[in-house]
Amino acid sequence: MSKDAHNHHVEESYRRYDEALKLIPGGVQLLSRRPQLYAPGVTPPYVSHGKGYRIWDLDENEYVDWMMSVGALILGHADDEVDDPVIEQIRRGTAFSVSHPVELELAQELVETIPCAEMVRYCKGGGEANAIAVRIARGFTGRDKVLFCGYHGWHDWYLAANLADDDVLSSHLLPNITPRGIPQGLKGTALPFRYNDLDSLETMFKRNQDEVACIILEASRGASQPAPGFLEGVRELATAHGAVLIFDEVVTGFRLAMGGAQEAFGVVPDLATYAKAISNGYAMGAVVGRKEVMSVAGEMFISSTYWSDTVGATAALATIRAMKRRNAIAHISTVGRRLQEQFNQSAAAYGVPLKAVGRPQQVAITYTDGAPDAYKKQMKDYFVQEMTYRGFFTSFGFNPSYAHNDAAIDATAAAWDEVFSLTADALQKNDWAQRLHGEGSVALFTRLVG
Ligand SMILES: Cc1ncc(COP(=O)(O)O)c(C=O)c1O
Repeated sequence: MSKDAHNHHVEESYRRYDEALKLIPGGVQLLSRRPQLYAPGVTPPYVSHGKGYRIWDLDENEYVDWMMSVGALILGHADDEVDDPVIEQIRRGTAFSVSHPVELELAQELVETIPCAEMVRYCKGGGEANAIAVRIARGFTGRDKVLFCGYHGWHDWYLAANLADDDVLSSHLLPNITPRGIPQGLKGTALPFRYNDLDSLETMFKRNQDEVACIILEASRGASQPAPGFLEGVRELATAHGAVLIFDEVVTGFRLAMGGAQEAFGVVPDLATYAKAISNGYAMGAVVGRKEVMSVAGEMFISSTYWSDTVGATAALATIRAMKRRNAIAHISTVGRRLQEQFNQSAAAYGVPLKAVGRPQQVAITYTDGAPDAYKKQMKDYFVQEMTYRGFFTSFGFNPSYAHNDAAIDATAAAWDEVFSLTADALQKNDWAQRLHGEGSVALFTRLVG
């Protein structure tokens, strides 16, 4: 594992990235795969393969992966218990002109596992699942408006929020993402409310009396955890105003608990959406919910060829069953808790104003009170850069998986000690410019929960 700029080579990765920029607008298919979000010039934009908690880049550097395909790999890279049945199914055919029984088997598993699930529809990703859920909510209520907080994907219904004139939204919504390409006619249909602020939600309902089809939110995310009574209050307001309550469980699903955030927090929505961890790295998404609401989808046009391929459904079924068999959530929680403890001990020991917060299954890093505003960005960039040099693929957060073990945690904690010692020195000398080797990260995207 390389330790500094002298023996860290990522030239092959960047050669490919430069080629990609000529052929693929933006270079990537998912905004958070852009190297600009890590330590550009240092973090590899391309990876060749992965196994368990490790990945290898095109220049043959090995890393402990703490990002895990932005949270999708709940069991780890290339898990045999998922891959074997998928490969077997691939040999027996991946798609047909009528349905395959795995679709039904998965529906039964989801209904057994998720509190709100009485009926189920499939798709291929999280943004798509949310677009379907919002469409169903609009079809069920006959209303147009959506109250939301948090990030929910790339579709028109959601980015319509950025058509608003109100410039308060630029800090609340998606900085640097214009609603270019979103029809002006959707203006005023997606309205943000603040997380943990029931008054702001109530005000939205009053201003849009009998027009709100649904509320959609993530029950928790990283540092944003529900204040006592918040989720219960959201549930009550939705019911009182005849709006459908949708939990976006794209991240929380099969991570906070097998039944997702709704199980972890004990508040049951009408609909919930799943992707990422549901299938450990295979394209899959699901919308589940109460029969009364879901059954409307049977009378609506919600339909696509690959939603019934056998690969995604087989992967999801195998992932869910493997997680249950291994009691994976308990292991992932232990890994996350140990990470938080080690991180906070190490940061405190070196006087670095950072702390690891959030639920252990989704660890976020924040600045402690008194962290110097002037150096926050440098601290983050330096952290990612120095961890990358030491063979850790990370950003300002960690997605623990079943594959991570004590060896991965111990190696990571040893690297934090080194990096925080350097950071303490940098904070004292204020010589960031000499220390930072890439162009520095760019805040392309701000999560919307807070
Ligand atoms: C909460 C949440 N919802 C929806 C999405 C979009 O999912 P996908 O990228 O699979 O379309 C994401 C992706 O990060 C997410 O974090």
